[in-house]
Formats: sequence, C-alpha cells, structure tokens
Amino acid sequence: MNSNELRKHFLDFFESKGHRIVPSSSLLPTDPSVLFTTAGMQQFSPYLAGEKDVVNDFGNRHLASCQKCFRTDDIEEVGDDTHHTFFEMLGNWSIGQDESGYFKEGAIDYALEFLESIGLDKSRMHITVFGGNNVIPKDEEAIDLWKKRGINSIKECGFKDNFWGPVAETGPCGPCSEIHYDRGESFGCGRSDCGPNCDYCKRYVEIWNLVFMQYFKNKAGEYELLSQTNIDTGIGFERLLSILQGKNSAYETDLFSDVISKIGKGDKVACRIIADHIRGIVFLVDAGVIPSNTGQGYILRRLIRRTIRYGKMIELQGDFWVPLIKLTIEKYKDVYKEIERKKIYEIVKKEAEKFSLTLDRGLKIINSIKGDISGKEAFDIYQSYGFPLEMIKEELSKKNIKLNEDEFYDELKKHQELSRAGAEKKFGGGSNPYLHTATHLLHSALRKVLGESVRQMGSDINDERLRFDFSFERKLTPEEIKAVEDLVNLKIKEGLVLKKEVMPLSEALSSGALSFFKERYPEEVSVWTIYDKDSGEIFSKEICGGEHIDNVSKLESFKIIKEESSSRGVRRIKAICQGKYTI
Ligand code: GLY
Repeated sequence: MNSNELRKHFLDFFESKGHRIVPSSSLLPTDPSVLFTTAGMQQFSPYLAGEKDVVNDFGNRHLASCQKCFRTDDIEEVGDDTHHTFFEMLGNWSIGQDESGYFKEGAIDYALEFLESIGLDKSRMHITVFGGNNVIPKDEEAIDLWKKRGINSIKECGFKDNFWGPVAETGPCGPCSEIHYDRGESFGCGRSDCGPNCDYCKRYVEIWNLVFMQYFKNKAGEYELLSQTNIDTGIGFERLLSILQGKNSAYETDLFSDVISKIGKGDKVACRIIADHIRGIVFLVDAGVIPSNTGQGYILRRLIRRTIRYGKMIELQGDFWVPLIKLTIEKYKDVYKEIERKKIYEIVKKEAEKFSLTLDRGLKIINSIKGDISGKEAFDIYQSYGFPLEMIKEELSKKNIKLNEDEFYDELKKHQELSRAGAEKKFGGGSNPYLHTATHLLHSALRKVLGESVRQMGSDINDERLRFDFSFERKLTPEEIKAVEDLVNLKIKEGLVLKKEVMPLSEALSSGALSFFKERYPEEVSVWTIYDKDSGEIFSKEICGGEHIDNVSKLESFKIIKEESSSRGVRRIKAICQGKYTI
C-alpha cells in the first residue's frame, strides 16, 4: 500500500462505518496560544467541549479526517528516523453520545478492525492505558475491553504518557489507550524489560492513540467532568506507513522516495533534512505564511535557510529546490488540491537569494583565511553567517586547514550560556518588578480588548515607565485605550496575586503560557501566573525570566501616557503606575 492508498483506505473505512469525512483544517490554528496545528482534534475542540453542536454543523457526530500538522520543537532532530516538521494525522471522532454514538468499546473495535484490515497482526499489538492518579481513576474499563479482545499485553502508565490534552491552556482532554506495534526482535535492544515506551530502542512503535475524552481542564487548572463523553483518536500517518512498508523510517517510504532520489547524492541526514524542509515549506506557504523574523514566519525563514545551507553542503547546484518542490506538490496534489506552485517558488526564490548573499560573504571570509584558524574565528563565521560547522570544515579542508573543534565547541557553549542569560534579561524586562508586573497586566488586557491576535513584539522598562510593543494593524481609538486602562485598573483593585513556577519549556508551552521569540528561550523557564486567589481564575500566564511583585494592588493605578506606531503592523504603548516604584 502506498501513501495515497493508505490515506484513502483509512477514510473509506470510516466512511463505511457511517463517519463524515472532514477536510483537514489549516496548519494555522484559530487559537493564538498555539503556533501551529499539532493534532486532528483542534478543529473540533468546541464540539468536543460541548460548546457547539456537532450534528448541527457537520450533520453527523461521527467524523474522520486526515489533518495537516506541524511541529517546531524538534527541528534540530529532523533527519533521524522519526522526526519531521510537517506531518499528517489520521483520526476518528465520536462526539457526544446518543444511542447512535460510540465510546471506548466502539473506538477499540474500530481500531482493531482497521489495523487488521491493513494486515497488522493483533498478536504484535501492545497496549498502554492510564493507570490513575489522585485525581483521575485508573482506566479499568479500557483494561477490561482490551482483555476481552484477546490482548493481554497491557501496561499501566502515568499521566505523562497516557493522559492526553488539552492542546491549549484549557480544553477537553482525557485518559488514553495507545496501541504499540512490535516490529520484531531485530529492531530491539534485547533487554528483558524492553516493551512499549522503551528508553533504549524503537522496537515498539506507538501507532494509534485512542483518547477517551471525559474531562475539561479549566482556567484554574482543574479537571472537570465534561457534560458529554467523546472519542478522539490520532494515528501518526508517517509512522503507520513506515510500518506497513516495512521501513525503518518514513524517509524510506514513497512519501519521500522521489524527492530523495532526485537529490540523488550526499550525506543521508542532509538529504532527509532537505526533503523534510521542502515539504514543510510547501505546506507553510500554502497555509499563507510568509518569511519574517517572528512566529510562524520565522519558522518558514528557518526552514528555507536550512534547506539552502544543507543544499550547499552536499553541493546541490543553482535553484536545486525547484524540482524538489515540484515533486513534493505532485505527491500531494490529489489530497490537497489547492497547493499553489508559483507562489511557493517566488517566496523561496526571494528568501534564497537574500540568504545566498549572506552565505557568499561568509565564504569569502573563509577563503581569505591563511594559515590555521582558531575555534573562535570559526565560531564567528558560524555565528555571523549561519554556516553549519560541516560546511566550515569542508571549506577549510579544501585548503588543508585544520580546525580545532574542541575550541569551537567551547565557544559555542560560552555563547549559549551568554544568550541564555541574555534571553532571561530580554524577557525579564530589566531592573523594576513593579512595571514588569504592569507589563503582563497590560499585555493580557490588550489581548482581551483588541483580540487574541495581539502579540508581544518587544518590551523595555526603565525606572519611570514601561514601553510595550505589540502586533496590531491600526491606531487604537480613545475608547479602546480607556478600556485597556480600565481593565488593568480593575485587576489592580481586585488585588490579583502572582505565582512563579519553574518548568521545562515544552511543559510551559503546552500549559498555554504565552511565549515569544520561541526559539530563543532556555530549556527550563519560569512561568508567571497572575490570578484571583479566591476563584483561581487566571488573568495572565507568561513565560518570563524576570522578577515580579506578589500582589498587583501594589501598583495602585495604571495610566497609558502614549500610543503610537512602532513599525509597520506594530504599535507601541508607554505607561506608568502610581505605586511607590516611581523615582
Ligand atoms: N488527539 C489525539 C492525538 O493527537 O493523539
């Protein structure tokens, strides 16, 4: 079965079981607290939460889709067997119950029937289930259902592995059962305790996640029982395809084979990176992203630049990406008919030309080097011109110059430490915890008054005033300025309190904390929440390395003293507080 056949077979299977096939939603989600769509359920979130009526809007409570998704967390890992930027998820849903709906039993039966229909062997399936914690009980029902279907390899796992969602700060979620497939001993580490989620090998691959949605995580972080139950499932399409085609990796399947054979030569990882990024570029541009220095645009810029860099590294000539884009679109043209080739070429060409100039300048510098080069000099070239280390080494070796790699890595480490400290400072907002807390209040108030598309673009605090830059297309009206001021002053009057939690960046992002300039945060971050102590209601939650006051009432009152343009599409507000911070 090739990729198109598998995708079609999945959708046909669920259509034959009375599901409505829903087209993929955009890669750019409507919820601004998440950068990209990462799961099939995102477009159904209000229906899963019971806020909208699925039968009204879709004519059916049973849905299935193949969803375009994009992940940015692991860009550096792309090129190994399992990581991709763009990927697809297959899923089926049963939203809310009436006599026609299905829950755990139906979801398990469909999953087994589908997997057997594509030739996978039930005796090689291993299940993980939610083992319970002090809030949510163990999923005995699922354990029982799997056992009744003859599957006895059932592992109870904790919250991290077997409780799914929500994708944003709040939303529907629930315990899940994962189906892992045993690819056989030859893929294994041979340890006696090897099994699903093994830390040492990839013998067992998770192929399907069945989420039994029974909870809603609210703003206070509590899990309320949903008014309805839902089934929400997700299959990593690339993974399932590689298993079906007996391959180690999706890069070896028909999804990538045309592009990789067109690249034709060179380091395996570089070829995979190029193939992945070309696909990512095609779908990001298709979704309407244009290269820029922030947010989604920055991710696109990064993919294009990495493609050019790796292309140069393996000596691909000229506009090597043109036929690769063509082949990629060809592969998906029957599934995503709307992809516009010309627009993609134009955007990549413009960005590639800009970047090539930068690279050429770097090459000139390398070529002017005579004699040995220090690790620091090499690092400067890497840092200023975006040359990958391999390219620097290669250029130097043409001239028989050796590079001291240890020195290079020492410099890299020093630089990372400095930029980590810099990022803390940058996002910390300087010398003044009072105005810093006011900045968070202002940010949240702007989003509440002007809409969630408002994004922090910059912040500067001195002893007298705060300055806050944010994305917004036009001048604020006097009424809007007043509404923002009033909201901040209301929160000051209510005496909201602050708390700081330190957590891994990924956890902070998935908890819905606002983040900016995503790529430059340290791996461990502080998350500051401003909330009402009595009701638990959260007013603001941001990743932030700075210090804050403990209670916003100390600000006494807040006033916007200026609203102006900062640059195109970016507004600037200066504001002061009356509290005792003033000099
Ligand atoms: N929503 C289920 C999954 O993405 O795995």
